[in-house]
Amino acid sequence: MENLEVVLTEEQIQNRTKQLADTLYSAYGNEEVIFVCTLKGAVFFTCDLLRKYPGDAILEFVKISSYSGEESTGRIKMNLDIRKENIENKHVVIVEDIVDTGRSLKYLHDYIMAMNPKSLATCALLDKKMKRIVPIDPDYVGFEVDDLFVIGYGLDYDQKYRNLPYIGAKTKKLSK
Ligand code: IMP
Ligand code: MG
Repeated sequence: MENLEVVLTEEQIQNRTKQLADTLYSAYGNEEVIFVCTLKGAVFFTCDLLRKYPGDAILEFVKISSYSGEESTGRIKMNLDIRKENIENKHVVIVEDIVDTGRSLKYLHDYIMAMNPKSLATCALLDKKMKRIVPIDPDYVGFEVDDLFVIGYGLDYDQKYRNLPYIGAKTKKLSK
């Protein structure tokens, strides 16, 4: 992608991920937590978060999609499901790469809530707060970003650029 600017460096991402892992650990302590990674975008973030998480962690995956190119289609597709027996009566944390309109997180939140977890929290590396259409805010947020299309560290543009170790964008706009 031409004119790519670094929005968050690898070091910033790793430092903040460590802080989030510590915050989550202080919330759950020695209670087992099921971390539900949303494929594909959150896979890098989830792996780093869990490597830094010192408590009992179980890793599960779901796959949902709503995007085509730079636009959210508004229709959520569940491509890889999760089993109720892995969720019921467990502490669950949904791990997302980025919350934009909020549709995906809300869909997944309600979907998992219906499986009767002991508790349910949501953790997103990035939050595009001003783009929210569905009123849902992640409980744990890495960074707030302005309205710009970001790529790298799991985030794609038509499946490319996920392997960048940092987060970039065409124009640099970042708060927090
Ligand atoms: P939402 O349902 O509109 O909140 O969209 C959330 C999903 O869209 C995220 O999990 C990402 O997969 C994708 N997405 C949203 N914004 C971006 C972006 O700036 N870059 C890459 N993917 C994005
Ligand atoms: Mg995602």
